Order: sequence, then C-alpha cells, then structure tokens
Amino acid sequence: MAEETPSPSLLQTRKILDETWGDIHPHACLVCGSGWGEIVDGLSPISSIPYEKLPGMGSTTVDGHVGNLWLAKPGGLDVLIFQGRRHFYEGVGWEPVIFPALLAHALGVSTLLLTNAAGGIREDLQPGDFLALSDHLNFMGGNPLIGQCPHPSIPRFPDQSKVYDPDLLNKIKQVGHATEQEIKEGTYLALSGPAFETPAEIRAFASLGADAVGMSTTPEAMVANGLGLKVGAISCISNLAAGRNSDALTHEDVTRTSELALPRMTRLLAHLIPALAE
Ligand code: HPA
Repeated sequence: MAEETPSPSLLQTRKILDETWGDIHPHACLVCGSGWGEIVDGLSPISSIPYEKLPGMGSTTVDGHVGNLWLAKPGGLDVLIFQGRRHFYEGVGWEPVIFPALLAHALGVSTLLLTNAAGGIREDLQPGDFLALSDHLNFMGGNPLIGQCPHPSIPRFPDQSKVYDPDLLNKIKQVGHATEQEIKEGTYLALSGPAFETPAEIRAFASLGADAVGMSTTPEAMVANGLGLKVGAISCISNLAAGRNSDALTHEDVTRTSELALPRMTRLLAHLIPALAE
C-alpha cells in the first residue's frame, strides 16, 4: 500500500478540527447543495467552523451557498456536515471541490452523502422531485484525478462500475418510503457550468441516457469512490431542464424550489443518517 502523505491543507484543517472539537468519530459526512444550508438545523447541530478558517476549503463565492463545516449529532452519533459546497466553475481548481471527500476519509468516515439541485431532463421528473443517483456521466471537461493523485491510496485507474453504493441507494429508497416520500432513481450528468445548458444540449444529453443535469457532485463522488467510501447522492429537481418549458432558467428559481423542498429533505436525512450507522 502507498505511504499516506496527506496534503499540508488537510493536515492543517485536521489540526484545527482537533483543537476545536477534540476527539470526534464521524461515521457519515453530508454535503449540502444549493439552497440547503438550513438542513443543518434539523440534524442536531453542535458547532460550526467557517470555511475561510479551513485551509483547503476557503470562502464560497456564490449567493445562497453559505460555507460552514458543522459537527452534528443526529441520533447521538457524530456526523460532519458541509453546509454549502465549492464548485469547479468558481475557477479556483479542484482542491476545495474535493476537499470534503478527502477530509471525510481522513476522519474515518465510511459514508459520504451528497445532495444537490438539478435540472430534470427525464420526462417524469418535476420540480420538487427527489432523485437518488445510481450513476453519472462526467461531462465537466475535467477530472479531479488527472495529474498528481489527490491522495496516495486512490488507484491511478480507479474502478467506477459502482460509484454510488447499491445498498446505500436501497437504503435511501427505504427511508424515503418510511418517511412517505417518493424517491426516483436515475443518472446525473455533470457539467462545469456556470452557464445553464442550451435546449439542443439537453436533447443530446437525454439521448445519452442523462436523467438530470447539474454542476456538482460528480468530482466528490469520484474521489470518495477512489478512497473506498460508500457514496450516496440525492438530487432535488429544482427546475425542468432547458427547453422542457419556455421559461428562462435563473439561479434564484433553483434556490427557491430547493427551499420549498427543505422540510422534506431534512426529514429524509434526519432518518437516513442515523440508519447509516446500523
Ligand atoms: N442545469 C445545470 N445545473 C443545474 C440546473 C440545470 O438546469 N438546475 C440546478 N442546477
């Protein structure tokens, strides 16, 4: 096995967490997507550290994306929550995008749960629907594993035949059923953004097998999968993808639909996260 040589920013961030929270043993880590920062309130939050104090995360630059790392204890167990995510389109490279996966691994987390807002491509998908990801198409025009590997234990050529853990996907659906919410299943196509897609692009992506489209999740999922973490991802369909209706797409619409879905998503996660430790 390759010798583990964590990056300086990972070592510094771990030191800050040790000094602030002492000996923690999170079993799961959650990354909250667009407009879902408030999810933390329903997950027994304990205390938070702003991203700008954590080397490797830095400050988020997008409205509606707050940036705090939380320690929470839903069901009495330690959980890490990234309240807000960094995106590739911010133009500051991959480090802040994949840092949650690296930090989760460094702290011994076994499950990484990713949430996001996405445009619905498949015909049955409507705003407010929840889609658990079974696979992805990486169309970001880049890949966080190119060049020097972000962690020595990630293979040079990682297998990606089950990036999203099938048992975890089933568990997400079971908890959805138990909390009376329909959870659909599908394939997410990731683009760099920040421009939304054209209708012609959406027609092309539909023919390639994409069910939903967004600007995140895939890089973190690839890195976490390479590190051997179980990965689960849930998209909230925030809008119909470009060309599926005549309205122009705005970031505000995405955030508004996500906010409306917030109580349902919080209920789902408040049941799901403790169940991950079982
Ligand atoms: N396209 C890309 N990213 C998105 C969308 C979309 O329609 N909705 C939310 N994030």
